[in-house]
Amino acid sequence: KSLYVGIDLGGTKIAGALVDRDGSLLRRIRLETRAEQGPQPVIDRLVEAVIQLTDGVRSSVKGVGVAAPGPLDSRSGVVFSPPNLPGWMDVPLRQVLEDRLGIPVKLENDANAAAWGEYWFGAGQRKGTMIYLTVSTGVGSGLVLDGRLFRGENTFAGEIGHTIVDPEGPPCGCGRKGCLESLASGTAIAKFGQNTDPSSLIHSLAMEDGGLVRAEHVFEAYRMGDAQAEIIIRQTVLYLAIGLSNLIHIFNPGKIVVGGGVSRAGDMLFPLLREQLESYLMAPFRGTCEVVPASLGEDAGVLGAAALWTDSSRKSEQGI
Ligand code: BGC
Ligand code: NA
Ligand code: ZN
Repeated sequence: KSLYVGIDLGGTKIAGALVDRDGSLLRRIRLETRAEQGPQPVIDRLVEAVIQLTDGVRSSVKGVGVAAPGPLDSRSGVVFSPPNLPGWMDVPLRQVLEDRLGIPVKLENDANAAAWGEYWFGAGQRKGTMIYLTVSTGVGSGLVLDGRLFRGENTFAGEIGHTIVDPEGPPCGCGRKGCLESLASGTAIAKFGQNTDPSSLIHSLAMEDGGLVRAEHVFEAYRMGDAQAEIIIRQTVLYLAIGLSNLIHIFNPGKIVVGGGVSRAGDMLFPLLREQLESYLMAPFRGTCEVVPASLGEDAGVLGAAALWTDSSRKSEQGI
């Protein structure tokens, strides 16, 4: 039986799983990397994760798929300097991992991998043109166009988080300003929450919960009727709607799947987002694109990364 490993490398954690061809998760692992600085210790943990996941079944493991924040080059396997992986600079991650593991490795952008996971095993339902949007520490997207994962000339495509939605906007981790990520990520929501007047419920909720304002405190305060939280959430949704309406006009997707930590806000996010989005669409586009929450949660990236292998094996079996 052929097995695959999917790894989702984030700014604060490594999630991994051992997966079979059908996308069943046979084993899981999760390691914190919050305390690690730069690539070396994170790569050590990643190797450790793969070794644990493949213990005793190593000879059945046909490939490892690794999802990481971009921009990255999935052909050469090099991670450049992602805003959300501080200290990483042109790391030849795929080569390093292949040398250390002795298993073939594929590297993919995290949002692309999650898009692929949702497309095959989740809300995407294996059909048509679907866009995955992740709103978490960063903002990213994966484009499944007519059933294919679209990468573009240099494999950098889909960097929606760094499309500029306000040229006078706040500084972004990428070094420019006014990117969608600087205005509508989990990080941005937390920062705007931090900067509210001390009378806002946001601060008392954060106080009861360790002190640091996080995006979920802003959503919680909004749910409780806090006016300042409402302003932040409305602004966030407005920018997300601008970003998504641009994607809709360019790619005409039938479905947008929204994942990442912020999508857990559910009812506080989706109705408002759908309403705003429709109002930004040209008439023929209205009602053409469903906006749904991701259905695989944190497993999307892991399953999608593993499916980079199963998908190519499916294709080769079919002689494509
Ligand atoms: C990166 C994307 C990534 C997204 C989510 C952005 O800052 O540029 O490549 O998909 O964060 O992690
Ligand atoms: Na992407
Ligand atoms: Zn940026």
